[in-house]
Amino acid sequence: MVDAKEIMKKDKEYLAAVYSRKPIVVYEGKGAIVKDLEGREYIDCLSGISVVNAGHTPERLVRAGTEQMRRLWHCSGLYYSVPQTLLAEKLASIAPGALRKSFFCNSGAEAVEGAVKLAKKFAISEGRTGAGVIALEGSFHGRLALSLTLTGQAKYKKGFGTFANHPGVVHAPAPYCYRCPLSYPDCGVECARKVEDIIKYHTTGDVAAMIVEPVMGEGGIIVPPDGYHAELQKICHDHEILFIADEVQTGFGRTGKMFASDFWDIKPDIMTMAKGLGAGLPIGAVMYTDEIVRCLVSGDHFSTFGGNPVCCAVALENIAYLQEEGLLTNSKHIGKLLMEELLSLQQKNDMIGDIRGKGLMIGVELVKDKTSKKPAVEQTKKVAKEMFNNNILIGTGGVHSNVLRIQPPLCLSDEQAKKVLDLLKEQLGDL
Ligand SMILES: Cc1ncc(COP(=O)(O)O)c(C=O)c1O
Repeated sequence: MVDAKEIMKKDKEYLAAVYSRKPIVVYEGKGAIVKDLEGREYIDCLSGISVVNAGHTPERLVRAGTEQMRRLWHCSGLYYSVPQTLLAEKLASIAPGALRKSFFCNSGAEAVEGAVKLAKKFAISEGRTGAGVIALEGSFHGRLALSLTLTGQAKYKKGFGTFANHPGVVHAPAPYCYRCPLSYPDCGVECARKVEDIIKYHTTGDVAAMIVEPVMGEGGIIVPPDGYHAELQKICHDHEILFIADEVQTGFGRTGKMFASDFWDIKPDIMTMAKGLGAGLPIGAVMYTDEIVRCLVSGDHFSTFGGNPVCCAVALENIAYLQEEGLLTNSKHIGKLLMEELLSLQQKNDMIGDIRGKGLMIGVELVKDKTSKKPAVEQTKKVAKEMFNNNILIGTGGVHSNVLRIQPPLCLSDEQAKKVLDLLKEQLGDL
């Protein structure tokens, strides 16, 4: 048996340190539980990073993947492949609006880059040569050159110079009600209406696309107020700007619906997916409407590994699994339970500034006090650390690094949710 200390030592020696790791070697997982090399069990309240929506290694998905692996585990894009075509057909049946055509890649950032690349080509083919892109402040879209530029948070860009500064990208205000000087609904969703000014004053006037996370994930689980998406869509429509919904984090039942776009009847022209699509296997996708995809010619875009048959076979089974095992319903049910308890805790605790979320995508924003709203960064780290010390893995995030992220697998049981709540209450009460 390999030794945990040895693995950690070798990891430090041989891996480029891109992330500070928690001191466990995750070895196996089932449902909402992961075990480390020493056999200790943890409730995974972050699902990888919002990836294993179906839970860890469900038997049905293991079978689908194994059967496909035995049959064929790679097929280049030069040929037709059964799992890829069937997955594309399935996605067309569940995607919002008129999205119909899929392109498969391997990650969220690749999906975002594929989305914007085609949006630009479409706009240019329509004579709009500026082809700029509007993203949101506080957003997260990935860490490649263009996706990092789109990401509206300086902390991810520091030290990378022009790599994170692609031309033609501007940012609009986020629908971050908790930290907005205006109050909803009297504000008339000014954050969305501000996009008119952004177009007028910060672009060449011929914008190709606007990219938006329907619920902002890394930025701190920011749920926009009702009316926000409708206003954005109207502005985009009026200016012939393509609307890209980045559902990389919100897709596949995370928010209690298959896609977060479904809450507000968003009809995107382009949509990105990854994380929950492959239930943990590396696959991303971009979906386009028939109208947009018409500007593509063969060879415009490609990925060697995109649409891998094993990933596609598992993704296809995963969608059926989420639907047939009632996981979207459970996401709503457990999400409601957690939100209700947390909201009542917030009444008694001056450090819980805001609780927000949908389904099992919940953020708890911690502040020094409710009047100043100063971000309680150290306390946020402390709570996450204590949860970890008590065998519950939760995430932290937010533009100010003061948001606890609760994003467990959608199969989390009532009993497991209660354990999480009890410990959270204890830790938040201790602050
Ligand atoms: C909304 C969103 N878009 C894109 C990405 C990038 O995905 P990946 O890390 O797979 O490149 C993420 C990752 O967290 C995300 O949350």
